[in-house]
Amino acid sequence: GRVRRATGIVSTICDDRGEEPTYGGVAISDLMAAERGIGDAISLLWFKRDLPRWATRFIELVLVLCADHGPCVSGAHNTIVAARAGKDLVSCVASGLLTIGPRFGGAIDGAAQVFLDAHDRGLEPDEFVADMKRRGLRIPGIGHRIKSADNMDQRVKARNLVLNVDGAVANAFLDLWASSSSFGREEIKEMTQIGYLNGLFVVARSIGLVGHSLDQMRLKQPLYRHPWDDTAYYCE
Ligand code: ACO
Ligand code: LMR
Repeated sequence: GRVRRATGIVSTICDDRGEEPTYGGVAISDLMAAERGIGDAISLLWFKRDLPRWATRFIELVLVLCADHGPCVSGAHNTIVAARAGKDLVSCVASGLLTIGPRFGGAIDGAAQVFLDAHDRGLEPDEFVADMKRRGLRIPGIGHRIKSADNMDQRVKARNLVLNVDGAVANAFLDLWASSSSFGREEIKEMTQIGYLNGLFVVARSIGLVGHSLDQMRLKQPLYRHPWDDTAYYCE
């Protein structure tokens, strides 16, 4: 009889076997015909459903908001140094992307997790802060190297609580998505555990990192070497 062999790969988000690829079951020509945007592509490929317009608009807003934040931030700096070392576009972008983590750009899922947890435990904001402090943990989504109440971050627009852009995205996500009927509570939690929100920052900041790579190459910038006088040497 016929023996069924287990496949080496399982994939559930798209199909390329027909005449044209489908994203979450929707043919790309249908997406084109309906003038659907990047929020719709992410909706189908990440969330595996046709999300309502408010949700795809949220995704697009985050992509625009987080696309770049100047040449001095961790990601762009790495990309610029790599470009000036003569590396190719993909390597330069990868070098920048690899800085995204709990301190830089990759605090969105962590922020959503702790905010949701505090909400579920019925903690008031001051109790939440005291609890994190007692546990010796930095609050993801709060704080910034240069932004403060006196130097406000327009992406966040809050003077009282110094949320950074990661925290603001996490907050808006919980307010909009966790309170919508499109998603279950457990589903929202799982999304934040496997990186959906940091994924938005990765996609967004790739736009800026490609820009920085091309900029350095266009400007034919020489090899970067950090100046001695900006380095503290404490050698024996
Ligand atoms: N939670 C609790 N306390 C904090 C936090 C925080 N998130 N951030 C700063 N503080 C307090 C601490 O008491 C710190 O004192 P300490 O040195 O005794 O720990 C004091 O403020 C000063 O903090 P600094 O270390 O000087 O802050 P810095 O400007 O160097 O760090 C950073 C900025 C890395 C963003 C920090 O605020 C942090 O770790 N935040 C959480 C991670 C995060 O949200 N990152 C995303 C930033 S946005 C982006 O990258 C696009
Ligand atoms: C960013 O969006 O990259 C910044 O908020 C981080 C920074 O250090 O300014």
